Amino acid sequence: MSLIRKKSLRALLEQASHCHLKRTLTAQSLVALGVGAIIGAGLFVRTAAASAQAAGPAVTVSFIIAAIGCAFAGLCYAEFAAMIPIAGSAYTYAYTTMGEFVAWIIGWALVLEYALGAATVAISWSEYLNNLVGKSIPFQWCHSPLEVSTAGVHGIINVPALFIVFILTLILIKGTQESAMVNAVIVALKVSIVIAFVAVGWHFVNPANFTPYTIPAAMPGHEGLFKHGWGGVLGGAGIVFFAFIGFDAVSTAAQETKNPGRDMPIGILGSLAVCTVLYIVFGYVLTGVCNWREFAIAGKEASVAYAVEHYMPGFHWLATAITVAILLGFSSVILVMLLGQSRVFYTMSNDGLLPKVFSAIHPKFRTPYKCNIILFLFVGLFASFLPESLAGDLTSIGTLFAFSLVCIGVWIMRHLEPTMHRPFRTPLVPVVPILGVLICGGMIISLDHRTQLTAFCWMVVGLFIYFLYGRSHSKLNPAEVSDLETKPVR
Ligand code: ALA
Repeated sequence: MSLIRKKSLRALLEQASHCHLKRTLTAQSLVALGVGAIIGAGLFVRTAAASAQAAGPAVTVSFIIAAIGCAFAGLCYAEFAAMIPIAGSAYTYAYTTMGEFVAWIIGWALVLEYALGAATVAISWSEYLNNLVGKSIPFQWCHSPLEVSTAGVHGIINVPALFIVFILTLILIKGTQESAMVNAVIVALKVSIVIAFVAVGWHFVNPANFTPYTIPAAMPGHEGLFKHGWGGVLGGAGIVFFAFIGFDAVSTAAQETKNPGRDMPIGILGSLAVCTVLYIVFGYVLTGVCNWREFAIAGKEASVAYAVEHYMPGFHWLATAITVAILLGFSSVILVMLLGQSRVFYTMSNDGLLPKVFSAIHPKFRTPYKCNIILFLFVGLFASFLPESLAGDLTSIGTLFAFSLVCIGVWIMRHLEPTMHRPFRTPLVPVVPILGVLICGGMIISLDHRTQLTAFCWMVVGLFIYFLYGRSHSKLNPAEVSDLETKPVR
């Protein structure tokens, strides 16, 4: 059995025609889905973290670097998503281009992106909830056991994070259409609050906060290459990259889209463009209003609310409004992340690489409900017991890895299937895919060693599962293939 055995495009499209998911999403709902997934903890938590840890006020440049990497990857995603409009995203694309083994690796890396991404945002949700209730939740009940407060209290479990994952799992089980409607309302609120913060905060920008523009090498705690100066700006890009994650989640809903050939590129690139503009101005205003040094200490948690409360006198109401909008906004991100993860597992299960339980469809709601329940346990565990920084960086690394493989995949596909109908074509292949790989690779290298090592261990676990289960249960095994010829693919 070959590790590079591939699924043919014909088989994939045939599989899509037997799809049991409802086709309800339009281009507009896809952009909303994308923005819903994109604007979240990355902007409201990691902007401050990136400026405090690595980039200083130059975090706006970090946003630009991360956006360029995402734009290249987004162009590649758009070509694939329009050409192969099937749930499963990067995993599915890899299955047709680079074969089952690489597809499995990507699918496994996507767990880091979606499941850990959902957990990261849930942890940030808990942070802002605690801020809203005047820090009245005891530290030990809203932090991971790996965290210690300045007063020496150890975290036990993050209960609010677990709670929000539970509620959103219930909504997801009820159905995509309903979740898309809830999402559209939240997205409008979230974008309004970003614009309000920028419009009000602009008047409180203190130019002195921009000097020096990057972190000086001599600063204690900033010795590493990617922790100060322009290297720190690249390090900051790796951290704020998290803020862009989500535009690719649009592609996981391809099978539920009415006209994927036209709507997928609009959904992916449109949501990315909207967010890039908002992020750059937001990063400028946040680091202009509050000095980046404060984000390492007092303003570390719920940083945006902190900046408003301390540096925008007369706008306390805005801090409260921002916090409420953030809580709702984070919910929409978690929702899309959970949706993306369940659809990736659904597809992997349909392919035989994961047990059938992941593709069982609810008879009434027609959603992969068992998969959602298993995911709740999994994501809930991460959300309850991991600190935000570790979960967030792992999410970034998994996503950057998947993006790089998608870029390579587009290039390969142009050679393998040059005449295939492509409703959207990535421009300047192979230049765009190569630049995508280089920028994403640069951001992977800039993340810290602990994250890189943990991600590596995660991938090793994935390899064991593939060789112990996936490989022998794959639908591409000869027995299964002949079986498929007599039965419809489910
Ligand atoms: N981009 C999403 C966020 O920032 C994951 O929360």
